[in-house]
Amino acid sequence: MGTFVEVFVCFCLLSAIRTSTAVDTISPGQSIRDGDTIVSSGQTYELGFFSPGSSSGRYVGIWFKKISTGTVVWVANRETPIRDRSGVLNFTDQGILLLLNRTNGVIWSSNKTRTARNPIAQLLDSGNFVVKDENDANPENYLWHSFDYPGDTNLPGMKLGRNLVTGLDWTLSSWKSLDDPARGDYTAGIDPHGYPQLLYKKGNKITFRAGSWNGIRFTGAARLRPNPVYTYEFVLNEKEVYYNIHLRNRSVMSRLVVNSTGVTERLTWIDQTHSWARYFAVGEDQCDTYNLCGANAKCNINNSPLCDCLEGFEPKSERDWSFQDWTSGCARKTALACKRGEGFVKHPGMKMPDTSGSWFNRNMSLKECEDLCLKNCSCVAYANTDITAGSGCLLWFSELIDIREFADVGQDLYVRMATSYLDEIKKKRESRREKRESRREKRIGIIVCTTILGTGVLVLGWILYMRKRRIKLREKMRSVIGRDYNDQSRNEDLELPIIDLITIMKASDNFSSENKLGEGGFGPVYKGIFLDGQEIAVKRLSMSSGQGLEEFKNEVLLIAKLQHRNLVKLLGCCIEGDERMLIYEYMPNKSLDFFIFDQSRSKLLDWNKRINIIDGIARGLLYLHQDSRLRIIHRDLKASNVLLDKDMNPKISDFGMARIFGGDQTEANTNRVVGTFGYMAPEYAVDGLFSVKSDIFSFGVLVLEIVSGRKNRGFHSHDHLHNLVGHAWRLWMEERPLELIDNMLEESAAFSEIIRCIHVGLLCVQKRPEDRPNMSTVVLMLGGESSLPQPKQPGFFTERFTPEAESSSSNYRSTSTNEITVTMLDPR
Ligand SMILES: *[C@@H]1O[C@H](CO)[C@@H](O)[C@H](O)[C@H]1NC(C)=O
Ligand SMILES: *[C@@H]1O[C@H](CO)[C@@H](O)[C@H](O)[C@H]1NC(C)=O
Ligand SMILES: *[C@@H]1O[C@H](CO)[C@@H](O)[C@H](O)[C@H]1NC(C)=O
Ligand SMILES: *[C@@H]1O[C@H](CO)[C@@H](O)[C@H](O)[C@H]1NC(C)=O
Ligand SMILES: *[C@@H]1O[C@H](CO)[C@@H](O)[C@H](O)[C@H]1NC(C)=O
Ligand SMILES: *[C@@H]1O[C@H](CO)[C@@H](O)[C@H](O)[C@H]1NC(C)=O
Ligand SMILES: *[C@@H]1O[C@H](CO)[C@@H](O)[C@H](O)[C@H]1NC(C)=O
Repeated sequence: MGTFVEVFVCFCLLSAIRTSTAVDTISPGQSIRDGDTIVSSGQTYELGFFSPGSSSGRYVGIWFKKISTGTVVWVANRETPIRDRSGVLNFTDQGILLLLNRTNGVIWSSNKTRTARNPIAQLLDSGNFVVKDENDANPENYLWHSFDYPGDTNLPGMKLGRNLVTGLDWTLSSWKSLDDPARGDYTAGIDPHGYPQLLYKKGNKITFRAGSWNGIRFTGAARLRPNPVYTYEFVLNEKEVYYNIHLRNRSVMSRLVVNSTGVTERLTWIDQTHSWARYFAVGEDQCDTYNLCGANAKCNINNSPLCDCLEGFEPKSERDWSFQDWTSGCARKTALACKRGEGFVKHPGMKMPDTSGSWFNRNMSLKECEDLCLKNCSCVAYANTDITAGSGCLLWFSELIDIREFADVGQDLYVRMATSYLDEIKKKRESRREKRESRREKRIGIIVCTTILGTGVLVLGWILYMRKRRIKLREKMRSVIGRDYNDQSRNEDLELPIIDLITIMKASDNFSSENKLGEGGFGPVYKGIFLDGQEIAVKRLSMSSGQGLEEFKNEVLLIAKLQHRNLVKLLGCCIEGDERMLIYEYMPNKSLDFFIFDQSRSKLLDWNKRINIIDGIARGLLYLHQDSRLRIIHRDLKASNVLLDKDMNPKISDFGMARIFGGDQTEANTNRVVGTFGYMAPEYAVDGLFSVKSDIFSFGVLVLEIVSGRKNRGFHSHDHLHNLVGHAWRLWMEERPLELIDNMLEESAAFSEIIRCIHVGLLCVQKRPEDRPNMSTVVLMLGGESSLPQPKQPGFFTERFTPEAESSSSNYRSTSTNEITVTMLDPR
């Protein structure tokens, strides 16, 4: 009877494991047979037997449950497959996992550091398969866990590095091939020698050195930046050194994998496209090749040739260098003698040299570091260990290897130089300064004399002149506006305050250059403060601008009637003599381009601000297109025409080129194409055809610029000639939309929202105007959750478009920065 009960219980347990998918745990005495699986509680990971690729060998592994393509993230018996389907994974009373074949031979086993009273083996929702005491959830006390034995994949929360006490090595190693999970040639791990650094190797050869951690990123991993998906962690103490990432949003699926062809990339699962998107790949350009330039030289991807000696060094072999063989590196022009007067030259923007032979102390200041380096004759360079705090000391004692120069993300490296070399530099600098000063003195003398004479005369004349002018002010205003716009209905409700020139001059400190804010559509813009404290922006029509007068009138008539929180507000205008001015509310945060295209300022615009800006622009445009009393096409929507108030709310400005449409008019043709390259819809730039849909195109470009932090025009990529629109389209088609996202988008976990914006942006820049959504649809799409149609090919996705457009660009309007607003004659 007793045996019957035992057999019965045993049968029940077994069948529970076999049939139920809800089980994530095995207890002592239980086992998993080939064909059975266990699934983590959140249904993310599954553990069981599988055969990789076209292999017939059986392995025990863990894979993503939700993904049908079977993405394996961990393998137990990676070196020793089971030849048939008779394998069984047993869990013993001692808390040991045993993988047995048909003849009960042990194929693989886990080991443990301690014994536990009630051991269980559980597959966690992080992808970690752990053996622990049933009542002890503390990760520190796991008896064994799979995260300690990484294969080719690093999951969030899994350490990459080394346990310095037990010697446990958390290095990733590739599979031999798609069919064979055995240890392959490629590895990614942290080398603890000197100051620890992250190295990618093929066999024993370093292929790419991401380098040491500097508080923000690995010094050579330029693309590792604050981002919407992960936070980074780097730990270095006596017990362990490791690097780790944590998901900001736990439901995102992500992995770093070293694949069998040596490609190391971080991939993130995109539900919308049902595929893995590359977040970044390691070692992407030539300068990432380890030690490409040899000792004491730096690599710069924007230079040709790529390699250059550090300042004060020269090629060891001019001949090799002339053949672009840089491996021999550079030597000092003047050798160090360890004499008094030696010092350091600062090299900003660098990837730190190889730290395998370096010394460090993370508690010292930079000054202490310099002193220490000077005292030790064999010390050749120093730097901070942590650039966020500007602290810590890192010293080098041998030749400086594998240095790279970055445009934006590097750090300061201080290289020791000989006394005579430093003296020479100092002399050169002084003589340059002396020359400059003597020149300046002469100039000042002349200026002072002229000014004293001239001012007296001018002031007197000016006062008389102004008094006379002011009397004629009102009539002139009427006549200027009225002459060209006889339409009574428009004129009668023109209730724009007229502000006199003297008031404006006082407010703007006589249009002083300090008050100049920039160059607008048709002339300079100045800041001013009225006596009552109100801040204003004054747009002054430049005398030389013939086209400007038209636009001035256009803007006065149009914008005076428009009232919306996302349109800039016109306070008044001024017409006196030859002066034509518009007075607006002042926007303390300038314009959008000032922020999104700037490395440091773009950090101030997190995702919440950016989506608010996109939303605001959409609403402003919707008002222009549909909701105001008039139907208005802006025709020159671009980042520099979106101003930001003190709370970073967007306001569309510059209506100089806007057009009013009648109630049922939907498109018009013009002989004068105005707008800005990079924002113009194809049908408009080529055929002069404009409609609300050409504004939508510009809006789409703007959205892509806001998400990516890059300009559409002048966009460069290593692997194609497309502009930003083309780049975005390409990434979308290749199901890698994440790569478009601005790295500065810190803290923003609204991952799917960002992708939605890219999607809407691409719908807006579609080639055919009729495919583009209208503004009310765009507003709905941005706010909604519904599924969106797939975008079709965009218009103008390569930078060089029509030759006509380029050739007629001699007819420029007043230009300001390198962004050019153009007027084109009808190119047909
Ligand atoms: C492994 O587990 C199975 C089923 O639980 C059991 O029949 C077998 O004896 C176990 N083998 C070993 C070596 O523990
Ligand atoms: C089972 O494994 C043992 C030890 O690895 C091995 O000697 C034996 O040949 C294997 N048996 C089968 C049937 O594969
Ligand atoms: C645990 O097993 C691994 C191989 O699976 C082995 O490399 C390691 O030395 C073992 N550790 C202990 C403490 O037995
Ligand atoms: C390795 O990754 C690259 C890039 O994703 C891919 O093209 C290649 O096919 C992969 N190789 C293998 C063997 O998976
Ligand atoms: C560095 O400073 C921290 C706290 O300020 C201290 O705990 C640590 O022991 C110091 N380390 C060394 C090496 O001086
Ligand atoms: C200079 O530094 C090296 C490396 O840390 C050390 O071995 C050597 O003793 C130091 N020399 C002096 C004079 O402090
Ligand atoms: C986390 O990601 C999931 C799936 O991508 C998404 O549905 C959810 O809204 C996200 N949560 C947060 C807080 O962003």
